[in-house]
Amino acid sequence: MARDGADALQQIAEHSIDLVLCDIQMPGINGLELVRQIHDVEPDLPCIVMTGYNTPENSVEALQAGAFWYLEKPFEQDRLDVVRQLVAQAIEHGHLKSENRHLQRQLRSRHKFDSIIGKSASLGRTLAIVERVADTESTVLITGESGTGKELVARALHYNSRRAERKLVTVNCGAIPEELLESELFGHVKGAFTNAVNHRDGRFTVAHRGTIFLDEIGDMSPNLQVKLLRVLQERTFEPVGSSKTIKVDVRIIAATHQDLPKLIREGRFREDLYYRLNVLPIEVPALRDRSGDLPLLIHHFLDVARLERGSRVDGVTDEAMQRLIDYHWPGNVRELENLIERMTVLVELGEIQLEDLPAHIMAEPKIQGSAPRVPSSGLDFNTVVGHFESDLIKQALEHTHWNKNRAAGLLGLNRTTLLEKIKKRGITPPEDAD
Ligand SMILES: Nc1ncnc2c1ncn2[C@@H]1O[C@H](COP(=O)(O)OP(=O)(O)OP(=O)(O)O)[C@@H](O)[C@H]1O
Ligand SMILES: [Mg+2]
Repeated sequence: MARDGADALQQIAEHSIDLVLCDIQMPGINGLELVRQIHDVEPDLPCIVMTGYNTPENSVEALQAGAFWYLEKPFEQDRLDVVRQLVAQAIEHGHLKSENRHLQRQLRSRHKFDSIIGKSASLGRTLAIVERVADTESTVLITGESGTGKELVARALHYNSRRAERKLVTVNCGAIPEELLESELFGHVKGAFTNAVNHRDGRFTVAHRGTIFLDEIGDMSPNLQVKLLRVLQERTFEPVGSSKTIKVDVRIIAATHQDLPKLIREGRFREDLYYRLNVLPIEVPALRDRSGDLPLLIHHFLDVARLERGSRVDGVTDEAMQRLIDYHWPGNVRELENLIERMTVLVELGEIQLEDLPAHIMAEPKIQGSAPRVPSSGLDFNTVVGHFESDLIKQALEHTHWNKNRAAGLLGLNRTTLLEKIKKRGITPPEDAD
């Protein structure tokens, strides 16, 4: 109970209040002004305004001032239930709003850069670019092998931009069948196709004023590529079955694990779309090319297991660590994350030993000049060959102090083939060479 507006504000500052019910006509501050002042300090506190003079202007003004609802006095007996219900709803609404704000804040801090673990120079270069381009409006294309952390980078971009308070909408273009993807992206009107019983907004509309993350963009069909190109150029599109043009304000981030220039050569990806997307390219390095990050990542995932799943595994023996560092990680950080999760369940307590590691990690042949043996457990042909190839190229580059012409000569390759391979395999000069 408060005597007047000033008293109410004082009480709100001192106590935790769930709901305010107030008159419009009061001595001192009037009810509408009070609602405004309350929301300056407690934006989620619901206020119900009561009035003896129910004019349309009063009710509109009350809602404009930010009131949850307005009620006409006096409350007749038969309306008391409605009032009770309204009060319960207002309180719940306030709780949900403040909980939502809290979660949003938590989400944002989780996607700041410190959620991306790693101190290697190659990841550092990537993150420096991420930091520089996060708060721009430019389209970003994130490339990198599967499981390297492309989605993590996309989140960091969004949550460090001025759009962070708005939505980040993710669409996995590879996971949705072509005929559904168009309506998923652009929406459809009622009756546009057999199952379109209702109008539905597309993801671009949902992402208005926020960011849309188009994952696996390399899987998009040529037909949709044309439509996406137009969105990139004009920020406009038409929902399926509609001729009404919709304009949106969205920032576009795309990602792919595929080699888009190669898809262009094969006629599977539009070159004009590629140039529109590739305004700011960000490449996330493969885990095998930053094995210095392995101990950090392993300890990070062990910490997560301890904190979230009560694991009692507290480390990895030196031998096991060395084996993990030598492994080629075809599935990158995701493979490592899954492995650590499995290990913390199987090992139960103490340190992870060499013998605890799964056979395919134990048995991987070390490539040292001669062709590797095929272990009885089998191997992944492409990754072993890839590894072998990288190794030869690195050696040739070292011999020639990174003179690519001469390295190509040493390997009997032409220069462009070598350059392509260097790019594809993410081979970078050692830190001290410049
Ligand atoms: N540097 C990192 N630090 C901490 N966790 C990471 C890091 N990189 C990746 N991860 C984790 O590894 C998993 C895979 O990352 P993410 O989904 O971002 O990869 P991706 O490149 O999008 O893979 P895909 O191409 O398969 O979709 C996620 O659980 C992510 O949290
Ligand atoms: Mg992904």
